[in-house]
Amino acid sequence: MKLLLIGTGSIGERHLRCFQQLERCDAIAFCETHAPRRAEIAGRYGIPTNLAFPDLESALADGHYDAAVIATPAPTHIPIATRLAALGTHLLIEKPLSLTIDGIEALVEVVKEKNLTVAVGYVHRAHPAVEAMKEALDSGRFGRVLQIRTASGQAFATLRPAYRDVYFAKPELGGGAINDMITHFYNVGDWLAGPIRRVMTDADHQTLEGVTVEDTVHSLVRQGADGGVMGSYALNLYQHPNEVLITVVCEGGTLQAEYAKKRWSWMTEASGAWHHEAVEMPEVDVMYRRQNGAFLDAIDGKGSVLCTLEEAIRTLKVNLASHLSVKEGTWQIVNA
Ligand SMILES: NC(=O)c1ccc[n+]([C@@H]2O[C@H](COP(=O)([O-])OP(=O)(O)OC[C@H]3O[C@@H](n4cnc5c(N)ncnc54)[C@H](O)[C@@H]3O)[C@@H](O)[C@H]2O)c1
Repeated sequence: MKLLLIGTGSIGERHLRCFQQLERCDAIAFCETHAPRRAEIAGRYGIPTNLAFPDLESALADGHYDAAVIATPAPTHIPIATRLAALGTHLLIEKPLSLTIDGIEALVEVVKEKNLTVAVGYVHRAHPAVEAMKEALDSGRFGRVLQIRTASGQAFATLRPAYRDVYFAKPELGGGAINDMITHFYNVGDWLAGPIRRVMTDADHQTLEGVTVEDTVHSLVRQGADGGVMGSYALNLYQHPNEVLITVVCEGGTLQAEYAKKRWSWMTEASGAWHHEAVEMPEVDVMYRRQNGAFLDAIDGKGSVLCTLEEAIRTLKVNLASHLSVKEGTWQIVNA
């Protein structure tokens, strides 16, 4: 397994570290256009200079890669993915996949033709509390899903201090809370409660210093096979507690994932008590190792990726509809 990472900014570095920790690659190469960052990453992770390339061209000139991780800003994901797919390279593409649907069909075609494994980095599917909820919902023991609510927030300026200087500040590079953050929850919502069919979003910039992109998002949705599930997704990028709360209300009970408390819970009786189950989350990298391990397993024919290209395309369409809803102030049908 020879792996190529493209882009080693904040998430590319995490992927590099997590793939190294998995110890399942014979060689890990990377390309990074920013020279000081390239030297820093090569030094920190002991990557020999002959595997640290200044750009994709020189990396590809050096040979074939079995798999690649695309961790550059969003507008480059599809062109890079399509090029690598044509070379027969399995792909882990970072979210949000793209900012338009241009080139998506061609990518899907070539992936099919070359029979490739493609995963998209919607990593919340790898959170053990979310995974446990998914399993419980799929078991049928809680019955039909009626409502889903996600509420999340974090002190972005503290947790991602470089936000002003990277893609996040620029909508045309995938910045703003819709493409950068709430998209993760649209994707988890799709996984837990079915595809989002229509969306109404209110979003604005409230306070995050040094940027004008939206830092607060509220979306109402209809989702599920027949659009019968009602959903709401709320997020901000400035509150102090780093918090993710995902609640799914079913005919036979309520399920909840609470990241800060490292647990998922359920309740099945009106005057009953919550049943809590702890999950192992010693560090955030756990999710990335699970996601990336599943990608390698899928390449080996031993399992499936956590988020498929098809599922990520659905989420991309929700992102696009959500932006349009903000602009027009109306409900938008998600073009499935
Ligand atoms: N799944 C997650 O948890 C998660 C978290 C953060 C970011 N992301 C996504 O990952 C992507 C990158 O985010 P980031 O925070 O790492 O951004 P970043 O700006 O920190 O890093 C991007 C890096 O790519 C390099 N680069 C740009 N174009 C390149 C090219 N053509 N070839 C090689 N290197 C190139 C830049 O120099 C930079 O170092 C975005 O799409 C973002 O939405 C996902």
